[in-house]
This record gives sequence, structure tokens and C-alpha cells, in this order.
Amino acid sequence: MIQLIKGFKDILPEEITLWQQVETLARTIFEDFGYREIRLPILEKAELFARSIGDTTDIVEKEMYAFEDGKRGLVTLRPEATASVVRSYIQQRLYANDPIQKLYTIGPMFRKERPQKGRYRQFYQIDAEVFGIESPLMDAQMIFMLMTLFSRLNVSDITVLINSLGCPACRPRFKESLLSMLGSKKELLCENCNRRLSKNPLRVLDCKVPSCRDAVKDAPSISDFLCNGCESHFSEVKKTLKHLGVKYEIDKSLVRGLDYYTRTIFEIQTTALGAQNAVAGGGRYDGLVEALDGPSQPAIGFAIGFDRLCEILSQNSPISVKPVDVFFIATGDESKKVSFESICKLNVQGITADMDYGDRSLKSLMKRADKLNASFVVIADDEALKSGNVTLRNMNTKDQISIPAAGIAENIKSRIIR
Ligand code: HAM
Repeated sequence: MIQLIKGFKDILPEEITLWQQVETLARTIFEDFGYREIRLPILEKAELFARSIGDTTDIVEKEMYAFEDGKRGLVTLRPEATASVVRSYIQQRLYANDPIQKLYTIGPMFRKERPQKGRYRQFYQIDAEVFGIESPLMDAQMIFMLMTLFSRLNVSDITVLINSLGCPACRPRFKESLLSMLGSKKELLCENCNRRLSKNPLRVLDCKVPSCRDAVKDAPSISDFLCNGCESHFSEVKKTLKHLGVKYEIDKSLVRGLDYYTRTIFEIQTTALGAQNAVAGGGRYDGLVEALDGPSQPAIGFAIGFDRLCEILSQNSPISVKPVDVFFIATGDESKKVSFESICKLNVQGITADMDYGDRSLKSLMKRADKLNASFVVIADDEALKSGNVTLRNMNTKDQISIPAAGIAENIKSRIIR
């Protein structure tokens, strides 16, 4: 038997109802907040991610599904959506019409990480990005919108962590201080961190290797080095979150694993998923549009781990099977024909109806109707049909009545209240 690749998974019909509910709610909320959907390719030039996420990040160094594609050069399955949204904002000149763009996109991402619970090689993100707004009100509103979605989904066991990563003006002083502190701890750092140290010391703060975690225990925090502009931006974010009633914690050690961030960064964490505790993450990336050859426009965004969110939700409430409205039990050739036509008529009118296409006994078909959680059952046999009637059973009340075979679909439709 050919099996799926480790780290990849099938999302089965039993699970999909939940995925659809989450997606519909996310779309509704995002659109109420003024976001519009954008759909982007899954394959992009690898350079896009090297120049945005950063070529010394784990994602770009180790986790991309990249391959040479002839004249197109090195291409990759996208590991995240932000860089692609930025590419599109620039390439399609979305800014020319209006620099302020609020966009969202939902789809699969690919990272060659070590698979474990909550961590997959193909996973889905619900991603939102805003361009052209520097105001800290937008940072707070994004977190508020995210929390609105979580609260409507009754996800309660979550913590909002925030931090500020400053800007290119505050970074050099911080980098200096971090480098001088880590200089004396080089022997504790893993090979990767030693290599990255001078180019990108922030990545050392994000390394999961235990000895590196030890080395950075007393590391300075960038939030202690903020310039006046970043300091007042961050305090506005905090003040607004308070006004909006969003509870948060400041985590000075939060750095996030992507290089493009500036100023506010945030992560939504849960204890429900074991080691993979981040269910969403995001932040401001005011320099990225310009760094990718676009106009100088600020931006901020986040991505929800769709798989992780659905895992939390399915722990809260068991997955339910969508019931069928009507199940037809037809035990003769003529009954099957009449039933089949009624089913097609009902289906086009938005009513789920089905039958068994084999020759099973009445008893086993009643069992199947129960399994499908049918609201109504139509029992049609050729004898009863001769007198022009079929039996309609209401599976909730167990009442059974005889109804005319002509116009079964119309009759049933009038009984189904949505
Ligand atoms: P990220 O933190 O890399 O950020 O991913 C966002 C979320 O995607 C994570 O919090 C997690 O829930 C989920 N996720 C990440 N990797 C995996 C995986 N291997 N398996 C399952 N779920 C995973 C970004 O991707 C940024 N682009 C977010 C952003 C948008 N920042 C600004 N705009």
C-alpha cells in the first residue's frame, strides 16, 4: 500500500465541517474589519523568501522544499504567505490604487521540519496583512480581531504575548550589547548559532538547542534598547489593547523566527497542544516592502496555524457528522427509480438526500438511516407505489404517515425548516 509522506496528512470528511466553520467565521470577521481575500501561487522563486524571511533563518537554511526549475532557477513551495503577499502588493502595484490594503489569504504552506504533533510539513495558515498604516492603533486592532475570532470559537486557553523588536535605528546598540554578552559564551552555542552570531545575533535568541537556551538566559532584551519613536509606538499599542479589553503579557524574550519584523511582534500561545504552543503569530514589518524593491510602506500581519486551531477545537467538542435530511429506503426497481429522481430534485434544492443503491434488507437500511443521522426516512416499495403512496417517517418523533408518491420532493421540502 502506498502511504502518504511523513509530516503530511489527509483532512478527512469528518474533520472538514470544523475546518469549514472556522474558515467561514474567519472570512466573515476579516471582511467585517475591511479585509479582502487574495489568492497567490504555492510556488515562488526561492530568492523571495531568502530576502524576506532571511537567509540565516531555520526556514530558509533548512526547511524549504526548493528545486531548480530550468530557466526559472531555484523555486520553492512557499513556507509562509507574507512574502508572497508583499511580492504581489509590489508586482501588481496594488499600492498605486491605494497604499492602504487590508488582505487575507488561506492556504497550505510547506516546511521541512521534524514532524510531530502540531507540526507538519504541509500545514495551513489563515493569514492577514495590512499595508500602508504605521499607526499603533492598527497593531492593537489586528490582535483584537484575532482574539475576536478565538473568542467566537470559544477558544479560551490562550495567552497573548507581545514584544517590540525596535527598528533599524535601535538595533545596532542592541546587537553590540548582545554580541559582547554572547562572545563569552561561544562554547555553549551550537554550530549553527556560532556561524550566525555576527551576521544575525537575534537568531541565537530563538534557537531551541538547550545549551543555546542556557547561553541566552541573561541576554539583554531589545525592548530595553528602543529608540523614542519605537518606545512610544509600543506604549500606544499596549494602551490601546487595554482599552479594547485584550489581556496580554509582555514577553521580552519573544523574537520570532523570521527576520523581517520591526517594532510590535506577537504570538498567541496555548497549553492545549504540548510542545507546539503557538497557534498564531505575527508582527510589524515596516521595512520589507521597500527591501523587496517596492515603495516605502509600513506593514503588519499575522498568521493562524489552521491545523493547530482545529486540533484545539476538536479537543473541546467532538467532531460531528453532518446529518442527511432524508434517507430513501427503496426495495424494488420502480421504487428505486422514483426515489432516485426525488433525491436529485431535493439535492438541487439544497436538501441532502440519499439512498442505498444495493439490495439490502429493510432492517439494515434502517440502521444505515440511523448511522447517517437522517431527519426523515422515506420507505418506498413497489406494492405501495402501485396504490400511489410511500411512507414518510420522522426520525425524531418516530411518527409515520403515508404521503402521495407524486411530488415526494415538494412534500418533503415543505417539512424541512432551516
Ligand atoms: P509563523 O510563526 O512562522 O509566522 O507561523 C504562524 C503560525 O503557523 C504558527 O504560530 C503556527 O501556528 C503555524 N505553523 C507554523 N509552522 C507550522 C508547522 N510546521 N505545522 C503546523 N503549523 C505551523 C509566519 O508564518 C508569518 N508569516 C506570520 C506573519 C504574517 N507575520 C506577519 N504577517
